[in-house]
Amino acid sequence: ALVSLRQLLDHAAENGYGLPAFNVNNLEQVTAIMEAAHEADSPVIMQASAGARKYAGEPFLRHLISAAVEAYPHIPVVMHQDHGQSPAVCMAAIKSGFTSVMMDGSLEADGKSVASYEYNVDVSREVVKFSHSIGVTVEAELGVLGSLETMQGDKEDGHGADGKMTREQLLTDVEQAADFVKLTQCDALAIAIGTSHGAYKFTKKPTGDILAIERIKEIHQRIPNTHLVMHGSSSVPQELLAEIREFGGDMKETYGVPVEEIQEGIKHGVRKINIDTDIRLAMTGAIRRYLVENPSKFDPRDYLKPAREAAKKVCIARFQAFGCAGQA
Ligand code: G3H
Ligand code: 13P
Ligand code: NA
Ligand code: ZN
Repeated sequence: ALVSLRQLLDHAAENGYGLPAFNVNNLEQVTAIMEAAHEADSPVIMQASAGARKYAGEPFLRHLISAAVEAYPHIPVVMHQDHGQSPAVCMAAIKSGFTSVMMDGSLEADGKSVASYEYNVDVSREVVKFSHSIGVTVEAELGVLGSLETMQGDKEDGHGADGKMTREQLLTDVEQAADFVKLTQCDALAIAIGTSHGAYKFTKKPTGDILAIERIKEIHQRIPNTHLVMHGSSSVPQELLAEIREFGGDMKETYGVPVEEIQEGIKHGVRKINIDTDIRLAMTGAIRRYLVENPSKFDPRDYLKPAREAAKKVCIARFQAFGCAGQA
């Protein structure tokens, strides 16, 4: 059944687990996630980005997720809008049936300029106001996603801050987080701790200076009742990179957010963990392998099936690692 994000996050907090929120763009991703959730007996958060809306269009995304709800009536499913750039975008998503929205006011509506704190409070508060009156959950974001290695804002696919950032901007401030949650009444807060979107997060296995798990603990201590959200939380498994390279892909050395670090975050208030890249890597590796090993095949179902299997494997692993397996 379609459920509210708040309901799932409250249950996760009461029982001390986290939930992966997987980005979806097409049928194969939706079915992979649902098959994985069915096998792991896990609740599901599926989210659609602006890029997904551009690729598939809101009606297709909405109906794909509705189809998942119909096909798996025993699995709780959240239909979440990822990175809404304005109150109008969030409003439109709610009108089309999303049960949960992210108002990303850390950046201005252009998706590139770092917003003022006041702007972020204003737009987040506005979205909370119209969402809560109709039972829709709101995720807000404070701090700028980006790399503490290069001090660059997140650059993935045209969204993310332009130019050089300061350490202060790239790490969510503890006192400001407390003030922000009080003023906006958001249900969940996405925080900046050195993660960024996409495959190229870290040039080495991250240590505490570039992946600030300590900051999660400090924020959680200050606002223990706020559900925390980690963006840019793909782990970028080395074996998936190796498979892509083995079968003709060109990807340079890179590291993601280790699953153990996410588990540490979950011990300290992280309830929603956003994952897109790992599914992309898994599907691409499987498709590359299949086409190289079966050069005469041309039916998309032949190579999308292993792609779906590979995505499903990633989903099951995250459901188990984050503790939400068995919680459906
Ligand atoms: O927000 C970041 C997600 O990975 C979505 O990326 O805009 O390419 O769909 P996208
Ligand atoms: P990844 O690129 O690390 O998968 O992050 C996805 C994300 O944060 C979507 O909002
Ligand atoms: Na952001
Ligand atoms: Zn994100």
